[in-house]
Amino acid sequence: MTARIQPSILSADFVNMQRDVEAIATADAVHVDVMDNHFVPNLTFGLEMVTRVQAVSPIPLDVHLMITDVDRWAPGYAELGVFSVTFHAEATADPVALARRLHTIGARAGLALKPGTDIAPYLELLPEFDQLLVMTVEPGFGGQSFMAEMMPKVSGARAAISAGGLDVWVQVDGGITADTIGIAAAAGADTFVAGSSVYGAENAGDAIAALRVAAEAAHAH
Ligand code: DX5
Ligand code: ZN
Repeated sequence: MTARIQPSILSADFVNMQRDVEAIATADAVHVDVMDNHFVPNLTFGLEMVTRVQAVSPIPLDVHLMITDVDRWAPGYAELGVFSVTFHAEATADPVALARRLHTIGARAGLALKPGTDIAPYLELLPEFDQLLVMTVEPGFGGQSFMAEMMPKVSGARAAISAGGLDVWVQVDGGITADTIGIAAAAGADTFVAGSSVYGAENAGDAIAALRVAAEAAHAH
C-alpha cells in the first residue's frame, strides 16, 4: 500500500503561505483546513485564500471543510479545480447528494467523521466516496494528541472497502507524527495529514520523508 502524506497548512505561517506550500513540494497534497468558527471553535480562511493557494501550489489541494452549511459552500471549492473536497457527515442531511454534486464538478469527494460519530451508518455510503476521513483529534486545532481509540473505525472502514472491492482512501487527521503514523497505517489508513509534525520540524522535506518511511514500514507488516 502506498502512503500518501498531506501536510496541513493550518500549521504554516499564514503570511508566508507561498513559501510554506513550496516547502512541502515532496508531499502528495496540501491539506487545507477551512474553518468557520461555527462547526468548530476556530476560524481559518475561505474561498479567496484557497484560490490563491491553488494558484501557487506545486502539488494538489486536499480541502477539509470544517464548516456548517456544506451544501451551500462545498461546490464552490470543487469549482476552483482542487483535487479533493472533504466535508463532515455531521454538517449535511444528504451526504450522497453532495458527493454526487462534487463529482459532477470534477473533484474527488471525501466524507469526514468527528471522533464522537459512529461509522456504522456511513459504511454503506462508501461506494459514493473517494475518501473517508477518520478524525484522530477533535477538529478545530493543530497540535493535539493522536486518539488511538479511533483505530477500530479505521480498520472497520478498511475491512468494508476490501470486502466491497472499493477504491476509497482512508485518511487520518490529527496528532500524526513519526511515532503515531505507524499505528494508523497498521490499522489500514493510507492517507495521512500532518500539521505540526511537518511545519514544526527543522526541515519539512525531511519530516515528510520520515513519515513516509514509518507508514510504509507499518504497511509492510
Ligand atoms: C484539525 C485539522 C488538522 C490539523 C492537524 O482540526 O483538521 O488538519 O491541521 O494538525 P496536527 O497534525 O498538528 O494534529
Ligand atoms: Zn484537517
